[in-house]
Amino acid sequence: MSTHVFQLPDYAVQVGPLEDCFPAWLRQRQHSALLLLCDDNTRQHCLPLFLQKTGLPADTPVACIPAGEAHKNIETCALLWQKMLEARLDRSALVINLGGGVIGDMGGFCAATWKRGVDFVQVPTTLLSMTDAAIGGKLGIDFQGVKNSVGVFQNPAAVFVDPDFLPTLPARELYSGFAEVVKHALIGDAELWENIRQHDRERLRHSDAATWAAMLRASIAVKVRVVAEDPFEQGIRALLNFGHTIGHALESWWLERDTPLAHGEAIAIGMVCEAHLAGGAAWLPQLEALCRRLYPPQPSPEAAFPALWALMQQDKKNKAGAVRMTTPAEGAFSMRVLEPAAAEVYQSLRYYNQGF
Ligand SMILES: NC(=O)c1ccc[n+]([C@@H]2O[C@H](COP(=O)([O-])OP(=O)(O)OC[C@H]3O[C@@H](n4cnc5c(N)ncnc54)[C@H](O)[C@@H]3O)[C@@H](O)[C@H]2O)c1
Ligand SMILES: [Zn+2]
Repeated sequence: MSTHVFQLPDYAVQVGPLEDCFPAWLRQRQHSALLLLCDDNTRQHCLPLFLQKTGLPADTPVACIPAGEAHKNIETCALLWQKMLEARLDRSALVINLGGGVIGDMGGFCAATWKRGVDFVQVPTTLLSMTDAAIGGKLGIDFQGVKNSVGVFQNPAAVFVDPDFLPTLPARELYSGFAEVVKHALIGDAELWENIRQHDRERLRHSDAATWAAMLRASIAVKVRVVAEDPFEQGIRALLNFGHTIGHALESWWLERDTPLAHGEAIAIGMVCEAHLAGGAAWLPQLEALCRRLYPPQPSPEAAFPALWALMQQDKKNKAGAVRMTTPAEGAFSMRVLEPAAAEVYQSLRYYNQGF
């Protein structure tokens, strides 16, 4: 498997075996000190492979935090900054974020603020972070229960995407992350959509590294193109929010219930509803069939609709009380902006409920 390099204006995203690109990249850089960040799970499942692939010494300083979104907060940042102090990280040090989106967002944020900014690299280990979170320079933490409310835009020094980390990822995380691959296909790559629309759980679980690398290359190409065109989210980057206006509301609402939805499960429902709201699309029935194969059905009760609408109104993309969503239009990388009324959104939720 060869390495594919996406060159962005000030950093590269390399997709392929870490051993082929990371050691040479690191040698060129001459950092004064290193600190590896991971969580309890990535320490167990990814750190040994990372050290083996990169040849870094086993005594490389490691800061390990508890896993999960619940720890993506300022208290954990204080622990990480403490580790940076102990590891004597000066301005020419390097932080290596080995983990999913939580490690990438929070480790990046801590690095970007330590001594007014030290270099960091993203080594994503979940499908979601490989195809989405690690790319684009958005960093941050949750505050007072509001997701990503404190953060900065700061690009990493490099991103290394190696599918060899995927086999230990829990299956539900894998299927959930796949929703972002689906989103990228629908907004920008009809050929990728053709290649993945027939997938099912078995096929995803048993895909080998070369198959993942090809799929990731195509999916990452879409994200890279969008963020390169709109680094600060003023225009076309809104297209990456497809499925997320309704999806985030569903994710938040179900989080307080006995059967929470994983992020991608919520986004998958959001994409079905939002595409229906936009008047449908040729691929909508195929998307619904794919969702039925990959995700457990989770209809939301009618009684929850007003609460879901209220959650959508809090979405940061809105202007003056309206609820905004962006859906793919005809042709790759073209976008429609919708501002539906509550009744239309309820109708789209019913549409999902009836099909599942
Ligand atoms: N910055 C962005 O542009 C952006 C975009 C999308 C999402 N995000 C953020 O990403 C976060 C979600 O990311 P995520 O889904 O990767 O969550 P995560 O980092 O919590 O990882 C999910 C779980 O998988 C475990 N894990 C990670 N890699 C593993 C591996 N290879 N083997 C076994 N277990 C492994 C983790 O410990 C965790 O328990 C959210 O906080 C979200 O806000 C950021
Ligand atoms: Zn998402």
